[in-house]
Amino acid sequence: MPITLIRGGTIITESGRRRADVLCREGRIAAVDDALEFPAGAAVIDASGCYVMPGGIDPHTHMQLPMMGTVVADDFLTGTAAAAAGGTTTILDFVAPEPGQSPLEALATWRTWAAKATLDYGFHMTVSWWGEPLSAAMDALVREHGITSFKFFLAYKGRMMLADEELLAGFRRCRELGALAQVHAENGELIAYLQQKMLAEGLTSPLGHALSRPPQCEAEATLRAITMAEILEVPLYVVHVSAAEAAEAIARARARGAKVIGETLPGFLAIDDSVYSAREFDFAAGHVMSPPYRPKGHQEALWRALDAGALSTTGTDHCPFTRAQKRLGLEDFTKIPNGCGGVEDRLHVLWHLGVNAGRISPERFVALTSANAARAFNLWPRKGSLEAGADADLIVLDPERSKTISAATQHQKTDFSVWEGLQVKGAVVHTLSRGRQIWADGDLRAEQGWGRYLARKPFGPAYEGMV
Ligand code: URP
Ligand code: ZN
Ligand code: ZN
Repeated sequence: MPITLIRGGTIITESGRRRADVLCREGRIAAVDDALEFPAGAAVIDASGCYVMPGGIDPHTHMQLPMMGTVVADDFLTGTAAAAAGGTTTILDFVAPEPGQSPLEALATWRTWAAKATLDYGFHMTVSWWGEPLSAAMDALVREHGITSFKFFLAYKGRMMLADEELLAGFRRCRELGALAQVHAENGELIAYLQQKMLAEGLTSPLGHALSRPPQCEAEATLRAITMAEILEVPLYVVHVSAAEAAEAIARARARGAKVIGETLPGFLAIDDSVYSAREFDFAAGHVMSPPYRPKGHQEALWRALDAGALSTTGTDHCPFTRAQKRLGLEDFTKIPNGCGGVEDRLHVLWHLGVNAGRISPERFVALTSANAARAFNLWPRKGSLEAGADADLIVLDPERSKTISAATQHQKTDFSVWEGLQVKGAVVHTLSRGRQIWADGDLRAEQGWGRYLARKPFGPAYEGMV
């Protein structure tokens, strides 16, 4: 295992910044100081003029997910390699059993697929159905397999949506096991009605996707989930918050002391719903995801929520499909595979649109891209920190370097990017995963199978230390 000295940079953590060198030895951070000795045999990375920060933790990805008659374009090899090129060093992916399938059986499949990962990874479990066998399996998932977060769906009627009494039972089970309940918060009943109404009126294009999932659907479901979780005293993590009203419900809950964590995605901070009115099907369909991009105004509200602490994490919901795959819904928007890519772009977009634009500080950037996810998912301080003893998962970001995001040059295995043509200033020039340099100034050295599985411990009964 190489010894690496990152020399001459400014380190930034969630709590401050200072000039310091970082020594990485045997996969861990060995020392952080302002003038470290150069150990014999060490490789040196010159970070002068650059920022050294914890590697990104993407708490929301869907590598190789089978969905709507097709499979997500990135697998665990290509998706994690792309992530490394964008400064992410850990992903948390969703195991997704078929309705009725044993979650333990699905986990075995995902473990096989994820063996190719080039970065460390953990899993959440999708609760795609409910019943006594699933409740029983949750115990083994938490205690034996280190899966301590479970995603429940208030949307996707007829596929994964659970009834309120099932949500209550699932949340109570999370509480018993010290696990975190996650929710996809959209009102599936209302969406199913609106979808049928749009189709009956002849609206089959991607615009129907956005119009059938208005912000009120998200606001209602978010408040319903918060209400249940608060009364049951189970911490709640709301994934992919896109609507200002949902962020407000989370802010109010947090202000009264409820343990509610909100995640948003870079796309929801910058892209508005005008993309669905585009005449070109491929462009509009390329943006079809759930929840959808929102009308102008929501984006700035989400930035304010991120800065104020109402929203705590950013993920990507990386779930890319090619243009050809999206054409499955050419005649009917409800058949367009839902999801967009972005695992490679999150840090660049947030730095450029967040830090450079003065919306968030560099320290808040670290909290939002890494440290808070480490805390929320019980990986702290091994991940998300630059303390001696932490895994040497680091990035070096050059604030003067620019790059233009394009599907033609990205490492993600899709021919579409929601960020096409965006020129960002501030680029990740080095990425280290457990001390190994896997992205070196444009050279992608990610290695198949380097990633290790992260079994996570359940939270104590008080869920102390959660963000
Ligand atoms: O459209 C999306 N978000 N696809 C991935 C599945 C999910 O709901 O997170
Ligand atoms: Zn979701
Ligand atoms: Zn997702």
